[in-house]
Amino acid sequence: MKVMFKKRVITHGLKVCLRAGFRVGMALGLVCIVTAGGIAFAGDADAGRVKAETCLGCHGIPDHVNVYPTYHVPKVAGQHEEYLIAALNAYKNKTRPHGTMQANASPLSDEDIADIAAYFASLK
Ligand code: HEC
Repeated sequence: MKVMFKKRVITHGLKVCLRAGFRVGMALGLVCIVTAGGIAFAGDADAGRVKAETCLGCHGIPDHVNVYPTYHVPKVAGQHEEYLIAALNAYKNKTRPHGTMQANASPLSDEDIADIAAYFASLK
């Protein structure tokens, strides 16, 4: 009887583990699908911090200070990573108009964009 009970506990534990593993797997898969969109790597926020230095003159962080008072410079700190990637790709592909941002985004590689997006997204 005791042995039976233990066995059941063990099988139950295994089932829970498997289910948890499945969930984690699903979650990872979803994250991959969401971030994929043509990008094969996750952004590196540390690398992004260095790459984003030229951006900060306009996208002043953390106080969102605008060195060009006549421009509306959107706040990018704390913005969603996927949004930032999409926006930068749109400037890069010139599907989103704005000369200055197109010029800023055009030299960026997919990896640069992912890193910069990870960095800005990591800011609060
Ligand atoms: C000369 C000033 C300037 C520099 C430098 C600059 N930006 Fe911008 N950025 C702007 C302005 C102005 C806009 C708003 C453009 C528009 O209305 O589409 C903008 C828009 C954006 C947006 C879209 C935000 C939104 O809410 O849709 C992102 C993302 C962005 N910039 C990221 C960057 C990154 C990354 C860099 C550095 C590689 C950079 N910017 C450099 C001025 C600048």
